[in-house]
Amino acid sequence: MSLKLRLNLIITVLLLLIMLIGASVTIKNARKNIQAEIASTAILAVHMLNAEIANLKTSNHPMIRSGSFFKLKTLNKIRHLKIDFFDTSGNLLDSNRVDSNPHKTTVPDWFIHTMDTVTDELPVNRQPVYIANHHLGELVITPDISYEIIEEWEDTKGILILLGIFFLVVNILVYFSVSIALRPIDNILGALTDLESGNLAARLPKFTLPELSKISDKFNVMANTLQSSIESNHKLSQQLIKLQEDERKNLAQELHDEIGQHLTAIHLDASAIKSAKNIASAQESANAIDQVVRRMMEIVHTMLQRLRPSGFDELGLDSALRELTSTWLERQPQIKLNLHISGDFINIDEAILISVYRLVQECLTNIARYADAKQITISVIKENNVIAMIINDDGNGFDSSIKPKGFGLAGMKERVEGLAGSFELQTASNEGVTITIELPCIKKG
Ligand SMILES: Nc1ncnc2c1ncn2[C@@H]1O[C@H](COP(=O)(O)OP(=O)(O)OP(=O)(O)O)[C@@H](O)[C@H]1O
Ligand SMILES: [Mg+2]
Repeated sequence: MSLKLRLNLIITVLLLLIMLIGASVTIKNARKNIQAEIASTAILAVHMLNAEIANLKTSNHPMIRSGSFFKLKTLNKIRHLKIDFFDTSGNLLDSNRVDSNPHKTTVPDWFIHTMDTVTDELPVNRQPVYIANHHLGELVITPDISYEIIEEWEDTKGILILLGIFFLVVNILVYFSVSIALRPIDNILGALTDLESGNLAARLPKFTLPELSKISDKFNVMANTLQSSIESNHKLSQQLIKLQEDERKNLAQELHDEIGQHLTAIHLDASAIKSAKNIASAQESANAIDQVVRRMMEIVHTMLQRLRPSGFDELGLDSALRELTSTWLERQPQIKLNLHISGDFINIDEAILISVYRLVQECLTNIARYADAKQITISVIKENNVIAMIINDDGNGFDSSIKPKGFGLAGMKERVEGLAGSFELQTASNEGVTITIELPCIKKG
C-alpha cells in the first residue's frame, strides 16, 4: 500500500472515530432533551388534571355521566402526552389522541429506534377519578415522544450534516496536502531510475522540505562522484588500450630494426660459411654469428624485462628493484637515490610483487620527467603482512588540486585500491612529492 493511501486511510479512520463520538454525544443530548421536555410537560398536565378533578368533585354536571368532562379532545395540542380516560370497565371514554404518525416520513427509522427507549424510561401516570365518592374511571397519561423526535431530529440533523461536511473537507484537504508533500518522492524515484538506466546527468531539484532538500543535495553529490569516476574509468580504459597499442608498435619496430637486421647478418655469415674456401674464413664468419647472437640475446632479455619484469621467483623483489633503480640512475647520474628495502618477500603473490615494481617504476618515470630532484628516497618495507612503500623526492612538486591530464598517478591509485590497499599523495609547489602506499600481502596461490 502506498504511503499516500496509508496516511489518508489513517486520517479517515481517525475522523470517522471523531465523527462517531460526536454523533453519539449529539444523540445522547437529544435523548436527554426529549426526556426533560416530556417529563416537565407531564408534571404540568398532571397538576392541571388534578385541579380539574378537584373542581369536578363538587359539581353535578351532566357531562360527568357522559364521561367527557375533561374535554380531552381540546388538549390535542399537548403533543408530548397521550391523555386517555377509561371507565371502570376499561372502555376509552375520552382522549387527546390524534390519528396520525407525524414523524413517519421525515425522521429516519434508526433515529426513531434510538429515541424509542426514552419512552421506557418515562413513567406512565395513572390517576383514579372519584367524584362524589363514585369511582368514575382512570386517567392515564402516557408520554409520547413522536413530536419531540421531529424537533430533536431537526437539530441533530444539522449537527450531523456539519460533521459530515467537516469529515469531507478535512479528508480532501489532507489528501491534497499529502499529495503535494510527497510529490518530491516521484522526482527522487525518477532520478534514481534515470541513473539506473545509465543517464548520469540525472540530478534532483532543490525541495522546500528541509529533509527532502538534504536528500536531494546528497543525491546530486553522489551522482557527480559517480559521473566523474565513470568518466575517468572510461579515460583509463582508453589509455590502457592506447598503451597496449603503443607497446605493440614499439615491439614491432624493435623486432624489425634490431632482430631483423641481426638475422640478416646471421643469414649472410651462414652463407659465407657454406661457400667458405678455407677453415679460417669459415671460423671468422662463425665468430661473427656468435657475436650477433650474443647481441640478440641481450636485446631479447631487455625486451622481455620491459614487457614483464621477471626474476621475482629466482632473485626476489629486492634484486628486481635494485636492478630497476640502478638502470634508471645510469640515465640520471646527477640524482642521489637512497633505496631501503626490508622484509621477507618470499611466498607473496606475484601480482603484488609486480605491482610494487610498477609503482616504483611509474614514480621514477615521473621524477625523471618533472621533478628536477636532487635526492630521492625509496623505501619498501614488509611488516605484519603489509608492504609499506614511501617514495619521496625533493623536486618541484606540483599543485595537486589541478586535475592531471596524464594517467600515471590515477593508474597507480586504481592499481593500489584494486588490491585493497591505500594510496596517499602529498605535494605542493617546490616542496617535492611524497607518495605513501600500503598493500596487504596476498600469499602465493
Ligand atoms: N614527482 C613529481 N614531481 C613533480 N611533478 C609531478 C611528479 N609526479 C607527477 N607530477 C605532476 O603530476 C602530473 C600527473 O602525473 P601522471 O603520472 O598522472 O601523468 P603524466 O606523467 O603526465 O602522464 P602519464 O603518466 O599518463 O604518461 C604530471 O603531469 C606532473 O605535472
Ligand atoms: Mg606519469
